[in-house]
Amino acid sequence: MGQGWRELLESAREARAHAYCPYSSYRVGAALECVGGEIIAGANLENAAYGSTLCAERSAVAAANARGFRQFIRLVVSVEGQPVAPCGDCRQVLHEFAARSGIALEVLLHGERSDLMQLATIQELLPYGFELE
Ligand code: THU
Repeated sequence: MGQGWRELLESAREARAHAYCPYSSYRVGAALECVGGEIIAGANLENAAYGSTLCAERSAVAAANARGFRQFIRLVVSVEGQPVAPCGDCRQVLHEFAARSGIALEVLLHGERSDLMQLATIQELLPYGFELE
């Protein structure tokens, strides 16, 4: 794993342990590294009204925003099984801030049950992301 990812991964794992997922039992942790070095994490948060569920990635973005951070350099998404990529809604939200900051956000996909991690940029995950003119 490249320089600097280790701490971010540990933060995503720690957040994953706090996932609130009584309906799916599917734990997701996410950790963002912001410009300036701050690390902010999120976990999925489900609801009895399933559509009100928040993904880990958008929870992390919202937590960062509440602290005034909107420029993101790296993101780790960590799950218990095989690595998974962020859902479409999360890609769009991440794209918003990557586009505004001009930073090619790197996303590392981690799964505890796999030795392989995948690395992609948000641009690769969401080409032609929507932006208002
Ligand atoms: N989930 C995430 O946290 N991130 C994603 O990118 C996809 C799905 C969560 C939402 C829900 O709590 C659980 O995974 C199962 O869909």
